[in-house]
Amino acid sequence: MPTTIKVEIKRQANPNAPAVTETFEVPYRPGMNITSLLGEIALNPVDISGKATTPVTYDSNCLEEICGSCAMLINGKARMACSALVDKLEQPIQLAPLSKFPVVRDLAVDRSVLFENLKTVKAWVPIDGTYDLGSGPRQFPQVQEQRYPLSNCISCCCCMEVCPQFNVSTNFVGAATIAQAKLFNMDPAGAVLAEDRLRALAGDGGIQECGFAQNCVVACPKELPLTEAISDMGRDVFIQQVKDLVSR
Ligand code: SF4
Ligand code: SF4
Ligand code: FES
Repeated sequence: MPTTIKVEIKRQANPNAPAVTETFEVPYRPGMNITSLLGEIALNPVDISGKATTPVTYDSNCLEEICGSCAMLINGKARMACSALVDKLEQPIQLAPLSKFPVVRDLAVDRSVLFENLKTVKAWVPIDGTYDLGSGPRQFPQVQEQRYPLSNCISCCCCMEVCPQFNVSTNFVGAATIAQAKLFNMDPAGAVLAEDRLRALAGDGGIQECGFAQNCVVACPKELPLTEAISDMGRDVFIQQVKDLVSR
């Protein structure tokens, strides 16, 4: 039974500071996850050589893989800190911020690009006021069954981190945005914006940038059917482009 856990953490004091690696040795407790390990360091922020340092900055909220905020690279893999159990990780455990998003500090990154991308595809159901709109249109159970898995997205950005096409040269919106466009296109009320969403996905950084490498579906902690969503939306975008061409 180990008595300590060794962890190497890539740290950065601010967005422009150089990255440094600090190593810590933390007392072992059964059942620890990466978030509790970081909490333990915060209680006693002293590195393995005895040098005092600052607590490690990271995002977290729900601690049950629902809020999507604690994504980071754990032993090189994009995953959620709150559901990564120390007992199942090789040591020394290596922690680093997601590599494709601007670092805010240490393990906290700015993932606002996903929210900007969701805005470009209007990933919402439009309403025209804050008054009671009633119960809304009914959905067939078959439609609900297809939509429910897509609604489980926690905006963690793991799918974008692992995507070879998500980079500055393509401006690719990424799998999560495409999946949310499908979710809202299948909503009886949200479908009113379906054409706008398809046209947005036909534009710069749109669905044509996907190389279909399928890294995203493997990395998604909520097991969204991302490749199916990309295929379906690719078909719908193509049909929309043909319709727009003939109606010119
Ligand atoms: S299928 Fe490949 S290229 Fe397309 S979004 Fe997923 S990881 Fe990226
Ligand atoms: S699709 Fe999956 S990996 Fe991508 S943001 Fe949503 S939950 Fe995270
Ligand atoms: S803290 Fe919410 S997903 Fe990890």
